Amino acid sequence: MASCHQAKSPRTILSFNEDWSFSLADSTLDASNPSYDDADWRVLDVPHDWSIEGEFSEDHPATAGGGALPGGIGWYRKSFQLDVSQKGKQVYVQFDGIYMDSEVWINGTYLGKRPFGYISFEYDLTPYLNFGSKENVLAVKVNNANQPNSRWYSGSGLYRNTRLVITDAIHVTQWGTYVTTPEVTSESATVSLETTVLNPGTQPADAEVYTLIKNEKNQVVANTMSSTKLVAGKNTVAHSVTIKSPELWSIDSPHLYTVVTEIRTGGELTDHYETPMGVRTFTFDQTNGFILNGESVKIKGVCMHHDLGSLGSAINTRALERQLEILRGMGVNAIRTSHNPPAPELLDLCDQMGFLVMDESFDMWSLKKSPYDYAQYWDEWHKRDLEDFIQRDRNHPSIIMWSTGNEILEQWGDQGPIIAKELYDIVKALDATRPITVGMNPPVNMTNAGVTTQFEVNYNSISKSDGIDVIGYNYAHQTYPHHQANFPDKPFIATETTSGLMTRGYYDTQSDTVKRWPIRWDIPFDQGNPGNTVSAYDQVSAPWGSTHEETWKVIKNDPSLSGMFIWTGFDYIGEPTPYTWPSRSSYFGVIDLAGFPKDVYYMYQSEWTDQDVLHVYPHWNWTGRDSVDVWAYYNHADEVELFLDGKSLGTKSKEGEDLHVMWRVAYAPGQLKAVSRKGGHEVLTQVIETTNEASQIALTADRQTITADGKDLSFIMVEVQDDQGRTVPVATDLIQFAVAGQGKIVGVDNGDPTSHLSMKGNKMRAMAGKCLVIVQSGKSAGQITLTASGEGLTTSSLVIETK
Ligand code: GAL
Repeated sequence: MASCHQAKSPRTILSFNEDWSFSLADSTLDASNPSYDDADWRVLDVPHDWSIEGEFSEDHPATAGGGALPGGIGWYRKSFQLDVSQKGKQVYVQFDGIYMDSEVWINGTYLGKRPFGYISFEYDLTPYLNFGSKENVLAVKVNNANQPNSRWYSGSGLYRNTRLVITDAIHVTQWGTYVTTPEVTSESATVSLETTVLNPGTQPADAEVYTLIKNEKNQVVANTMSSTKLVAGKNTVAHSVTIKSPELWSIDSPHLYTVVTEIRTGGELTDHYETPMGVRTFTFDQTNGFILNGESVKIKGVCMHHDLGSLGSAINTRALERQLEILRGMGVNAIRTSHNPPAPELLDLCDQMGFLVMDESFDMWSLKKSPYDYAQYWDEWHKRDLEDFIQRDRNHPSIIMWSTGNEILEQWGDQGPIIAKELYDIVKALDATRPITVGMNPPVNMTNAGVTTQFEVNYNSISKSDGIDVIGYNYAHQTYPHHQANFPDKPFIATETTSGLMTRGYYDTQSDTVKRWPIRWDIPFDQGNPGNTVSAYDQVSAPWGSTHEETWKVIKNDPSLSGMFIWTGFDYIGEPTPYTWPSRSSYFGVIDLAGFPKDVYYMYQSEWTDQDVLHVYPHWNWTGRDSVDVWAYYNHADEVELFLDGKSLGTKSKEGEDLHVMWRVAYAPGQLKAVSRKGGHEVLTQVIETTNEASQIALTADRQTITADGKDLSFIMVEVQDDQGRTVPVATDLIQFAVAGQGKIVGVDNGDPTSHLSMKGNKMRAMAGKCLVIVQSGKSAGQITLTASGEGLTTSSLVIETK
C-alpha cells in the first residue's frame, strides 16, 4: 500500500505578524512606493485594531451604535528579506481579515483590493520578489473612514493574523483540501478527499499524491496514494479511504483526526499539507430536533460578535478560548458567528473543545442597513466572498450549518427568494453536507396579539423560498409551537433569541414587572433608569425579544425544536440598546464585556449543566430600600430556604415551569443565607453579607503561569473588598495599575456600557465591586508583577510567571 516518508516539509509557514510600521493618515497619503520613508511611523505587531486605542466620543461617525470609537484610514508597511535559496519557490501572503476595504502592494506593484472586512484571502507574491540582501516592501492601505458601515463595533486594521507561505512549485492551493465523511457507522467511516494541486509550470508533471489519516496519538489509521499527471494549472485529485472503528467527534469527546497530504514528483517531496477533520453524523429532524451521532442534542447556543472587549477586535487565541471556557461553564454547546465569517482560530477552538457552530456570512445583501456597509460591494464581491468563506471553513467538524444572512432586508420582497437561491447554489456547489439557513425576523407573520399560523400574501419571501433548508427564527418565540403547521417540510432553529437587557450588579426595586425597552426599535428611547442602567433581574428585554426565561421555557419543553442561539453570550462594543450615548456597548450579554457573568448566567447553568447550582442574588448592601427582592436559581433540589440573620424567611420551591424562586424581604443589613435541599438533605448553601467599607484590593488571575510567547494573556479579576475579604458589591473605586517585568497591560475593563475610560489605559473604575486587567507576556521567560492601588485602599500585587 501507500507509503509516505516523513521528510522535512518543503512548505514553510511563517508568522508575518511582527514589526509592521503603521500610520493613521488622510486620504491623500500614498505609501505604496517601496522607497517611501516610513522611519517615523509607529512599529507594532499585528493583530492590531487602531479603533480601540482611540477615545470614546459621540462625535465619531461610527456613532454609539458602532462603539463611539474612531475609524479612519491606516497604512501598514513591512520590509522583509528572502534568502536566495527561496528563489523558484511560490510565496504567498495570507491575511485572515482586514477591516476594511484593504488594498495591497508588493514592491510597488498593486496586488488588489478586498472590501469585505471579515474575509480571509491571500496574494501570490512570487513574480515580484527580491532575494538576497535586497528588501521587499509590502504596503497595505486600510480604509475604514466611511462610517457608519456597521451596526456594531468593527475595529479597524490588520486585526487578524497574517502569514507568509512558501512552497515548492507544485503544491496544494490555499484551502485546497475538502474532506467529507459520506458514510459513518460504528464499524467504519468512509473519508472522501478532494485535493486541489497547482502546477504553476507550462508542462504537465507526473506526480504521486499520498493521503494519510492520523489519529490523536499520531498513528496512521488509513492511507492511500495515486499516481497522476498534473496538467499545467489547477488539478483535482480525489481519494477515498476507510477508518475502522472511528472515534467520533462530539460535544463531550471532540475527537479529531489529521489528514496529511503529500505530493512527490521525481521521487522528491514537493508538498506536505495538513487538514484537521472529525467524523460525525448529524441531521435536523422535524420531530426530534437536532441529532448528533444518532442522539438528540438540544442546541444551547449563543450569538457572538467578534470583538474581545478591551482587546477590541484584535484577535487573540487565548482570549477566544477564555470566552469559550466561560460559556462552557454556563452549559453553552453552540456558537453563532453573528453576523460574519469569524477568525479561523475560533473555529479551530470549537473543533477542539466540542462546540457546534452556525457559521454565518452576511448581515446584509444588496440592500444596506448602514450608509456605507457591504451592500455597496454586493454585486461585485458577494460570490467571491461567499465561495472563499465556504472553502476556508468547510472542513471544520464543529460547523453544522451555514447561514447566508441575518435579517436581510430583502426578506419581504421579490428579490429575497432570488438572492437566497443564488447563495444557496453557491454554497451547495462547494459543500452539500450541511444545511443552509437565514436568520429571519421573523419567518412567519405575527398579529399584534402574538401569533398567526397563517401566512399573509408575500409575507417573508425567503422563508418560503428554495434558498434555505432549515427555517431560522430570529425571536418570535410565541410562534415556535406552530412551526410544524407552518413549515411541515422544514426543520426549526432559533437563530437568534431573547435580547434580554442587563447591567451587571444593578437591580431595580421591583423584580416582578417585565419591561420591554425601547418602546419600538425606531423610536428614540427617553425613559429608562438613571445612569443608563438596566436591572439585572431577568425582567427587561427588547420588545422584539423576551426575557431569558420566556424563550427557554418554549424551547425546553418541545423536543422538535432543535435549539436556540441567545442574543448574546458576551456583551460587545456598540449597539447599546435601549440607550444611546453616553452608552457605547451592549446590555444583551449573559456575560459582561469584561467576562464577568450576570446573574442569569446561573439560570442557564442550573438548566444546561449537570453540576449542582444554587445562585442567590442580589447583594445585601442597600441604602434607602425598604424591601429587596431575592431570587434564587437552583437545581438538583426540592426547595430552598432563606434566612436573614438566622431567622427563616420561608422555604420556596419552583412550581410548574418556574425557573427561579423569589422572596420579597424587608431589608435590614446582616447575613442572608440560602440552603437548597433534596429529600431533606442539604445540597448547597450560599451566604451573602452586608460588608464594611472598602479597604483593600484582591487580585485573582485566571492563569498565574502563562507562555512567554508575546501573545499569551492572564486575565486578572480585581475585587474591591472590605477588611474581612468580602467584595463590596457597590464599590466603584478607581484602581491604578502598574506592571513590571516580562509583560505589559493590554486591556482594562469593568463591563460598564457607559464607561468612557480608555480600555487600553492603566486605570479602571470598579463596577459592582469588580474590574478586569489583562496582562500579556513578553518573549522572555520570567515574572510579571502587577500592582493595583486606589485611594483609601491597601495596595495589592500579584506575580505571574511566564515560561
Ligand atoms: C437583531 C439583530 C442583531 C442585533 C439584535 C439586537 O435583530 O439580528 O444583530 O441587532 O437584534 O436585539
